[in-house]
Amino acid sequence: PETAAPNLVAAVSEARHWDQVMAMARIGAFTDADGNEGVNRPCLSALDREARRVLIREAQGIGLGVSVDSWGNLFLRHEGTDATLAPVLTGSHMDSQPNGGRFDGIWGVMAGLEAVRAIREAGIATRRPIEVVAWTNEEGGRFAPGCMGSMAFTGFARPDTWDAVADKDGITVKDALAEHLAAEADLPRRPLGTVEGPAPHAYVEAHIEQGPMLEREGQDVGIVSGIQGSRWFLVEIQGRTDHAGTSPVSLRQDAVQDAVRAITALNALMHDPTDVLRFTVASIEVSPNTSNTVADRVRFTIDFRHPDNVVLQARGNAIEGVIQSALRHCRFSLTERFHAAPVEFQPPVPDALERAARAQGLKAKRMPSGAFHDAQFLVPHCPTGMLFIPCRNGVSHHPAEYASPEALAAGTRVLAQALLELAND
Ligand code: GLV
Ligand code: MN
Ligand code: MN
Ligand code: MN
Repeated sequence: PETAAPNLVAAVSEARHWDQVMAMARIGAFTDADGNEGVNRPCLSALDREARRVLIREAQGIGLGVSVDSWGNLFLRHEGTDATLAPVLTGSHMDSQPNGGRFDGIWGVMAGLEAVRAIREAGIATRRPIEVVAWTNEEGGRFAPGCMGSMAFTGFARPDTWDAVADKDGITVKDALAEHLAAEADLPRRPLGTVEGPAPHAYVEAHIEQGPMLEREGQDVGIVSGIQGSRWFLVEIQGRTDHAGTSPVSLRQDAVQDAVRAITALNALMHDPTDVLRFTVASIEVSPNTSNTVADRVRFTIDFRHPDNVVLQARGNAIEGVIQSALRHCRFSLTERFHAAPVEFQPPVPDALERAARAQGLKAKRMPSGAFHDAQFLVPHCPTGMLFIPCRNGVSHHPAEYASPEALAAGTRVLAQALLELAND
């Protein structure tokens, strides 16, 4: 449809939607030193389950069917008129960064719920079912890498390769998932995604932009054209502890000094005069981490992203040699924990989103995503796309993250209309 469905647009309630997003923001809420209200809701934690319970109650209250798969991905199902058709899938994630905001992830789930609710309240039947999904562990903040739920769902990665992945307290993701599934044993279990069942008809993910462009340009929504590629590595540098007062510097195998050399050399490798490449070292662990003992071990992470797969391959593959040449005294190991090529979203999903925005008189712009999202793993399996809404100053992965009630409602109305179109084709 090229025109807005007026009763559907009216059925999306800005107030109700905002209240529900804010109710979620209270689960794992904290206030930082500047008075910002952030969220710390690690995946597969008690807080995660509490938020899911609220969502499940809400979904059951409006007549949706709830089920969970073997990776803890949670599904809320609106039935279509033809039960033999594959569903249109929409959603995002409910886990947050440890120092996260109130919108990253959770908004896409709540937008899906509000959109489905509006379709039902407007009395509109859809041919296909619509399912709202909350993917497990998108952030990778507790268990690296992120996007485990969607990678397991699509068979992009073999889940048993994560068996040993543990959080800071030594709890493995395997054990955390088992505990989580036991706590949700009352929910019907469904087959795991495209690995054990058919592909969805289409996938649409709504998310805050997490960057400044939409706000700066006065756009209402962003129609995401694709997602740049990402590679995550873990580097471990192994030296020897010595007494800081007695051991001559020339005789040491100082892991901190070699880590500094490695990071400096990597900065040179990753230098990009066009400023397109993203290279980040943001987690460094030193052992034994005391001021008067030379460190015997440093572990640091690499997050490397680029929209061009040739660059992603070439520079990513050069990391090992660059570290090797930079180290003076220590040994090292390099583990690649995540490798996702850039993706481009093809019609019909971006087109459906753009049609919906235009029909509602909203300003829309095509744009790439710098952040990764669960959507990228659906691309090989079904038509996929994403919708962005503006967020204040582009701030995200921070407690100051903010998107207005109007922006949330506008995005949800576009999502609702696009879902309706996809669910009727
Ligand atoms: C996901 O949060 C990302 O780092 O892009
Ligand atoms: Mn997110
Ligand atoms: Mn995030
Ligand atoms: Mn993300």
